[in-house]
Amino acid sequence: MKGRPHGGSVSSMQTTYVMVKPDGVQRGLVGEIIGRFEAKGLQLVGLKGVVPSEEIARAHYAVHSERPFFEGLIKFVTSGPVVCMAWRGVEAIKVARGLIGPTNGRDAAPGTIRGDFGMDMGFNMIHGSDAEETAEFELNLWFPDGTMDWSCDSQKWVYES
Ligand code: RTP
Ligand code: MG
Repeated sequence: MKGRPHGGSVSSMQTTYVMVKPDGVQRGLVGEIIGRFEAKGLQLVGLKGVVPSEEIARAHYAVHSERPFFEGLIKFVTSGPVVCMAWRGVEAIKVARGLIGPTNGRDAAPGTIRGDFGMDMGFNMIHGSDAEETAEFELNLWFPDGTMDWSCDSQKWVYES
């Protein structure tokens, strides 16, 4: 972890990249989504709004570049503002994916963000990194100047030790 701009010293401490996509912003779900991550006990270490350039959208979804839905996905993600976030916590990548739910809202359980607010595969409102390497790549892509290093006092009531 040493030397990583977004890394932590505890091995299970992770920072994950989460993004409210244009449909989530248009539907006014930004506050609701941020509230769920905060209430869970994750620490907000990065936050900004941006209309993504085609370049950054293509880099972000490069892993899907050969898929038939790729061009539509790029058009969608660049169609309006997104809210970029970095959330930190123990096993934050897995925890964030759990809060988000499966890709298709119709398959997502109630209680998850996609399960509570989504009915579609493409319009699923939110993105979350799926692995440590992906998180590092995405955090560097969207937060090239790094994230916020701050001590969150309430964390001592979130983790027992
Ligand atoms: P995300 O990357 O956005 O967090 O979503 P995910 O991991 O749950 O899903 P992923 O497989 O990485 O797909 C990325 C995004 O592409 C769109 N998609 N469309 N039409 C399709 O078959 C299809 N498959 C994926 C979705 O918007 C998905 O979030
Ligand atoms: Mg994905």
